[in-house]
Amino acid sequence: MKLRTIDNLDLRGKYVLLRDDFNVQIVDGKITDAFRIEQSMPTINALRDAGARVVIVSHLGRPKGTRNMEYSLKPIAEYMNVPLISDCLDKDFLGGMRDGDVALLENVRFYPGEEKNDPEFAQKLADGYDIFVNDAFAVSHRAHASTVGVAEILPSYAGKLLASEIDHLSHVMENPRRPLLAIVAGSKISTKIDVLKSLARVADRVIVGGALGTTFNYALGDRVGNSLYEADQKETALGIIEYARENNCELLLPLDKGVAKEFKRDAARENKTFETIADDDVILDAGVETTARNIDAVNNSATVIWNGTVGMAEWEPTWSYGTFSLAHAIADATRAGKLESIVGGGDTVAALEASHTKSDMTYVSTGGGAFLEFVEGRVLPGIAILEDK
Ligand code: 3PG
Repeated sequence: MKLRTIDNLDLRGKYVLLRDDFNVQIVDGKITDAFRIEQSMPTINALRDAGARVVIVSHLGRPKGTRNMEYSLKPIAEYMNVPLISDCLDKDFLGGMRDGDVALLENVRFYPGEEKNDPEFAQKLADGYDIFVNDAFAVSHRAHASTVGVAEILPSYAGKLLASEIDHLSHVMENPRRPLLAIVAGSKISTKIDVLKSLARVADRVIVGGALGTTFNYALGDRVGNSLYEADQKETALGIIEYARENNCELLLPLDKGVAKEFKRDAARENKTFETIADDDVILDAGVETTARNIDAVNNSATVIWNGTVGMAEWEPTWSYGTFSLAHAIADATRAGKLESIVGGGDTVAALEASHTKSDMTYVSTGGGAFLEFVEGRVLPGIAILEDK
């Protein structure tokens, strides 16, 4: 897909409405993970260096169309050291901006028109700007006023982050170095059916882990004790096993598990095969044999695409074993130049951060839902509208 980009635009003195995704985690008024903000900086700096007057619009959380200050972008404005405009429809401040200035608008989801993509709201938002730049890959799966509505009104372009996301993800889905290994884990099969199918079509092997993997084991008649899994998704799991077979994709399902008697961070860990899992056992992580097999799969691949943790990775160190072992194996092979690694999704990226492996990956996506939808092969409305036809 070829996008209209900001390269070669004459931006001096132009008012640019820039959509970023600054939906970051904030605890007690402090940003705990600034990854999305940092990844947005190259576009902001490029626009600023080109002499544009840059006004950033973003959402934070889901305030549902009301002005709930719990979701204010104030901590982000402070972090970036830019003025916060308390109403995203305010235009009065524009006259006072000089070339290269940057300002941040307050949460666009304080207005109900945003998520409804109300044309009147989009027009009000677009008024006063010369061009629109979308750099918010992570929210481009939403057809909202600030992703699609304004792009229908103003000349619109893709920012550097958005273009780079599309480049990396398209490359892995369309033209990967093989063997291609996909790792899909997490809790719910219902949210991952399409992504599993899509990856089964393109990947040589798919590791299925986490509670998602447990559902597959349950479907195959394995003992899963008192663990999290979706009994009603048995047929779905069996259908995906069949689908993978038809597409010559090898599914690597869990072989053993790290289990406890309670769903608790400090619960004692035992390693069990499915034959020995008791009715009161709770699966909290991938097992030792599974992890060794997973590492082997990584070491025999040229590309890895990863979404979802294979256990309770945030419960370090006991239950992060399976996920962190994968992260380290991928990081080592990537550093050695043997592997291209693409990772996406909030929990997975948090696990990379916690295992100090994030900077070793070839590409870490800022997208959660958007990453999944892209990999599923869906058309993301915020991106389709930027296509250079
Ligand atoms: C995300 O965090 O995935 C994006 O910012 C989109 O947020 P949303 O799911 O609230 O639309």
